[in-house]
Amino acid sequence: MRIAMIGTGYVGLVSGTCLADFGHHVTCVDKDQCKIDGLLAGRMPIWEPGLEALVKANVERGRLAFTTDLASAVADAGAVFIAVGTPSRRGDGHADLSYVFAAVEELAGLIDRPIVVVTKSTVPVGTGDRIAALLEEQGAPVGVSVASNPEFLREGAAIADFKHPDRILVGAEDERAREVLAEIYRPLFLNRAPLLFTSRRTAELTKYAANAFLATKISFINEMADLCEAVGADVQDLARGIGLDNRIGPKFLHAGPGYGGSCFPKDTLALLKTAEDAGIRQRIVSTVVEVNDDRKDAMAGRVREAVGGDLAGKRIGVLGLTFKPNTDDMRDAPSIPLVKGLVAGGASVIAFDPVGREQAEPLLGEIDYADNAEAVADGADALVIVTEWDEFRALNLKELAGRMRGRMLVDLRNIYDRAEAEAAGLEYQGVGRGQV
Ligand code: UDX
Repeated sequence: MRIAMIGTGYVGLVSGTCLADFGHHVTCVDKDQCKIDGLLAGRMPIWEPGLEALVKANVERGRLAFTTDLASAVADAGAVFIAVGTPSRRGDGHADLSYVFAAVEELAGLIDRPIVVVTKSTVPVGTGDRIAALLEEQGAPVGVSVASNPEFLREGAAIADFKHPDRILVGAEDERAREVLAEIYRPLFLNRAPLLFTSRRTAELTKYAANAFLATKISFINEMADLCEAVGADVQDLARGIGLDNRIGPKFLHAGPGYGGSCFPKDTLALLKTAEDAGIRQRIVSTVVEVNDDRKDAMAGRVREAVGGDLAGKRIGVLGLTFKPNTDDMRDAPSIPLVKGLVAGGASVIAFDPVGREQAEPLLGEIDYADNAEAVADGADALVIVTEWDEFRALNLKELAGRMRGRMLVDLRNIYDRAEAEAAGLEYQGVGRGQV
């Protein structure tokens, strides 16, 4: 199948590359000439494990191409995927669909036969209907279908997630769209991935419901962590204790500094807007958002208390800045309010992130950066682990303690135990690990 993928962001680039790897012929299109030039030269616009090699292999086999010219990409395509960004609209939190509709407007004039247009971007319920109406209005040929095929991949594990999904969700209103999508994903049901067909509207809303539910699990466990601290219980054991119940499940129960990233914050807000427009209250999701915002804002105070109640003149070393490991993405990262809060309290901050520095610098203002964890520890009153990069999981705590001025390790990801930190001469403060 020949496929055009509009948008070479996280979702578009990974999906396009993986579909090419399944044997389809994919042309990825982006308006950003620099991005396309970079991709043609083998430079990735994002840091994602395994992506560069997979792009290279598929370009070499002639199955993956990059262009800024939508017309040539669409010319012989049986399906056109729209995978452009849908960020939060400034001011009101609605999903900003301007990139989606700009792509559809341009596409409308190029379609000369009944192809399938597929939204892969996360779009509010009803967007597929609006796209279908717009295509019709602009004179697209009869028989053009619009389907919804939301993507559930996670940054940092994007290729594995795309190739081994828990499910593939297709919202379509006609048989041809279902057939075309079934053909595109055929290599995946050979891996036994369930292919779910539903209506276009249901598919669109399901993506938001999935992200909102996962965000709810995180806010839930974070509040349990606070309670554990207050009553002398351990949230790690608690999470295991509830997670082994199949009805609950063990995943997404890691307490931490609050969720960030490109999806949960914007998608929960957009869901609330959809509900508001529909006149339906969503008390759970709105509380989840509030709990998470408060949590991220509270992290600097946690460090302040850990160093004795006053940040003025303190040197705080921060390990990890990106919103999660294995990505350079800083969008809505908990490190942003944390670092700003530390600086506002009078601390000087030195940070190290294995790949996120370039993205972090414009967001964090005047702080120092180091090239490794040891240099972060030099002269620090406290070390704060903010992102659980693998290389922070086996630090030589004794050596770090020896370099520090103070002794405090604030482990916002619970990757160490109190006993091992204390054995290395550090004081330890995790998340939700209360002591009696
Ligand atoms: C998420 C969804 O997982 C994915 O299905 C969707 O397509 C896009 O949004 P992503 O944002 O890449 O993916 O990362 P994810 O691993 O889900 O983590 C999101 C945030 O939640 C991170 O800030 C992470 O640190 C936090 N998190 C996750 C927790 O604090 N605790 C957990 O138990 C899990």
